[in-house]
Amino acid sequence: MTRRVVVLPDPAAVAAATADRVVATVRNAIRRRGVCRLVLSGGATPLLAYPLLLAPPRVDAVDWSSVEFFWADERAVPPTYLDSNYNAALGVFLSDLPGVRLSAVHRMEAERGDLDAAAADYQAEIARAFGLRGADAAIPAFDLAWLGMGRDGHTASLFPGSAALGERRRWAVANWTGGAAGWRMTLTYPILNAAREVLFQVCGPDKRDALAATLRGETPAARVRARRTLWLVDREAAG
Ligand code: 6PG
Repeated sequence: MTRRVVVLPDPAAVAAATADRVVATVRNAIRRRGVCRLVLSGGATPLLAYPLLLAPPRVDAVDWSSVEFFWADERAVPPTYLDSNYNAALGVFLSDLPGVRLSAVHRMEAERGDLDAAAADYQAEIARAFGLRGADAAIPAFDLAWLGMGRDGHTASLFPGSAALGERRRWAVANWTGGAAGWRMTLTYPILNAAREVLFQVCGPDKRDALAATLRGETPAARVRARRTLWLVDREAAG
């Protein structure tokens, strides 16, 4: 397991490095396995990298029809709402990406009344997308989980003190965040830590305390340790 922290001058440089890393990892996965399974996140930070992935030369460097898209987490709102992570990624990224198939876009149905059942169905959807059968299927490895980190050190919707932090078995769960964020659906440590690579994109002075705490191992984000974990952060966040 490796963890690397790279400090870049500003959010634009972090976005460019993130986009380059996404392209390299996606290409590598497609070359080796014929498919890339990519996890997207919500929040504002990835919005800086999406336009870079939509423009040449990066957009032409990947066969996007060979990518399957998943989400790290989702808010308990319909997919048409502005604060839906699916809606955000669809509106400014996926709908403009050439070759993306609807069947390759695996959204979390977090608007459903029974969020536990929706999370169980998302696990089944992941298993299907990986061609796994049965409840005891081995835990699958996403090629890349592209994550962010909140000011409180949460990542995906793994919020400090929330029940999902203790999940050892399920891949997706409903999680009460304990604050204004309300109910969420989130991927869990078992499946995030099984990923081949995790990429954190973190910017801004408001992330400084959380990043320092993460490097001391004290936040939910600190417990995400995949085979390869890369933190791309700007100077303001690094302090
Ligand atoms: C979400 C997320 C979340 C996000 C961080 C960082 O749905 O909110 O997936 O984990 O990545 O909160 O968000 P910003 O990029 O907006 O700082």
